[in-house]
Amino acid sequence: MAVGDHTVAVIGAGKIGELMLSGLLRSGWPVGRLLATARRPIRAEELATRYGVQVVDNLTAVGEADVLAISVKPQDAAALLDEIGPKVPADKLVISLCAGLPTSFFNRRLPEGTPVVRVMTNTPALVDQAMSAISAGAHATGEHLALAEEMFTPLGATVRVPESQQDAVTALSGSGPAYFYLLVEAMVDAGILLGLPRQVAHELIVQTAIGSAVMLRDSGEHPVKLREAVTSPAGTTISAIRELENHGVRAAMLAALEAARDRARELAAQSE
Ligand SMILES: NC(=O)c1ccc[n+]([C@@H]2O[C@H](COP(=O)([O-])OP(=O)(O)OC[C@H]3O[C@@H](n4cnc5c(N)ncnc54)[C@H](OP(=O)(O)O)[C@@H]3O)[C@@H](O)[C@H]2O)c1
Repeated sequence: MAVGDHTVAVIGAGKIGELMLSGLLRSGWPVGRLLATARRPIRAEELATRYGVQVVDNLTAVGEADVLAISVKPQDAAALLDEIGPKVPADKLVISLCAGLPTSFFNRRLPEGTPVVRVMTNTPALVDQAMSAISAGAHATGEHLALAEEMFTPLGATVRVPESQQDAVTALSGSGPAYFYLLVEAMVDAGILLGLPRQVAHELIVQTAIGSAVMLRDSGEHPVKLREAVTSPAGTTISAIRELENHGVRAAMLAALEAARDRARELAAQSE
């Protein structure tokens, strides 16, 4: 069965669900093979108008789709599964986009043997530059993983990881765009402090971020090597790096990601 022969229902199409819908449509997925569900009628209307997709109730989606992509907040997942869990035929593929929730959370609430694939994607899906990490739950086969991969590849890069690594992935690439935006925001402020107009500072740093990211991706060089190429003896960069080290930027990054990983675990525990 080719991609696009499957009917996919995005259950709880909020920010991430919408990214998935729009990405699938951009990749040529037939609109007639996409369904969406929403909690508020106004949201349902918005999705139908914006994408022309059929917005249905959760139980209709379960009946009609063969892939159910669950994109509600982790804390809403138990209530959703109370509603749909017993009605999901065991041959449907369930794809969870929920941060923190293990596939076992779904399997406990779905008929025995239902395949569940866990995916952690991120917001650059909006520009087809997502990083999506995909893991198989207990009953998911290579074929299910391949289907999930085909669905997420048009949105950017994909990688397969063991499920035990998903909380770390959530902390690193799931939340990752926010860390870069925070850095850019801080660097624009620094540019303003140094007397640059906001717009110029913004343009300088955004293009610098893009250039650095493309070099990191395409040169295959270790970041240390790329940084060293900008760091001349007794130059400007090393003066800045001394300050970054003095302010514990590296340690802050380690602590921040540990906090994000712990929060993913906490959210999962609270959702039980
Ligand atoms: N945002 C990110 O960068 C990001 C990145 C990676 C993963 N995630 C994961 O993606 C999931 C969704 O996050 P989000 O940021 O997209 O949240 P969101 O914008 O709040 O989307 C969740 C949507 O689910 C709907 N919903 C909740 N319960 C429902 C139900 N029983 N039936 C139908 N619809 C229901 C909500 O409807 P209402 O709007 O009417 O309440 C909302 O539109 C989360 O589990 C999160 O961990 C998010």
